[in-house]
Amino acid sequence: MKQVLATIINNSEVTPGVYRVELESAEFEDAQPGQFVMVGCGEENLLRRPMSIHQLNNKADRTELALLYKVVGRGTQWLSERQVGEKLDLLAPLGNGFAIDPTSHNLLLLAGGIGIAPIYFLAQQAVKAGHSVRLILGAQTARQLYPQKLLPPEIELVTVTEDGSAGRKGKLTDHWLEFTSSADQVFACGPVAMYQVMARQISGLNHKPVYISLEVRMGCGLGICYSCTVKTRNGLKQVCTDGPVFELADILWGELGLSE
Ligand SMILES: Cc1cc2nc3c(=O)[nH]c(=O)nc-3n(C[C@H](O)[C@H](O)[C@H](O)COP(=O)(O)OP(=O)(O)OC[C@H]3O[C@@H](n4cnc5c(N)ncnc54)[C@H](O)[C@@H]3O)c2cc1C
Ligand code: FES
Repeated sequence: MKQVLATIINNSEVTPGVYRVELESAEFEDAQPGQFVMVGCGEENLLRRPMSIHQLNNKADRTELALLYKVVGRGTQWLSERQVGEKLDLLAPLGNGFAIDPTSHNLLLLAGGIGIAPIYFLAQQAVKAGHSVRLILGAQTARQLYPQKLLPPEIELVTVTEDGSAGRKGKLTDHWLEFTSSADQVFACGPVAMYQVMARQISGLNHKPVYISLEVRMGCGLGICYSCTVKTRNGLKQVCTDGPVFELADILWGELGLSE
């Protein structure tokens, strides 16, 4: 992990309220899908905000990094107002990341809403490594769906919207189980409420592991403040250093005490 000052080369709205900031830095290390950065959001916001790495492209002399973020409060509002040429102060890369088994052929990826942020990077790496990728992308309406034209074309895409304005109607959790039998590995990112439903759906079944990226409130991102502690079947874990990727069935969802 290192502290990096990265220059903004683009910061624009992708879907209503969701922005993609592209950054470049000569110092950024290689990072794995599922890892995150802690972003300094100006002097008025004391705490850095955790953001998943959305894309990473290594060029000969620099690295281009993209973050995808939804404006939900002061920090993300501040981020959305940053201009090209300004610098962002990042601690990166942090956390464990998703692990693709090299022997897996078919990967099933689930992205609920802004959960596409880390799942995109995973899909990009998986396609590069020759895996076959099916992505189920869920949103409330068609306008909120991550644009298909930005996704790697090799992906087999299934879209789900709650109001049925694009793709299948309903929630992602209404549809994902019909695709799991053909998948060697399953990876997901979405809100805690989505994980809680998924955990109930596979509870008691001999279901293959589902690896999720868990987004909770974080104070430091470095294992110091214990604000991100969750209960798991293997004891207490810090989401920032032991995660954010966990096995769905390892989290004691009933004892999480988190809101969405
Ligand atoms: C490992 C990790 C990766 C993340 N990746 C992304 C990402 O790629 N894109 C993205 O848009 N968001 C991501 N988040 C969530 C993001 O960190 C929060 O939305 C952000 O910190 C909110 O800051 P704020 O100052 O705008 O909102 P605040 O004013 O701090 O809070 C506004 C609202 O957002 C909720 N919120 C705040 N922090 C979190 C959090 N950490 N997780 C869930 N809800 C939160 C609060 O409960 C409140 O309702 C990630 C979180 C974690 C832990
Ligand atoms: S955020 Fe401080 S210990 Fe995890």
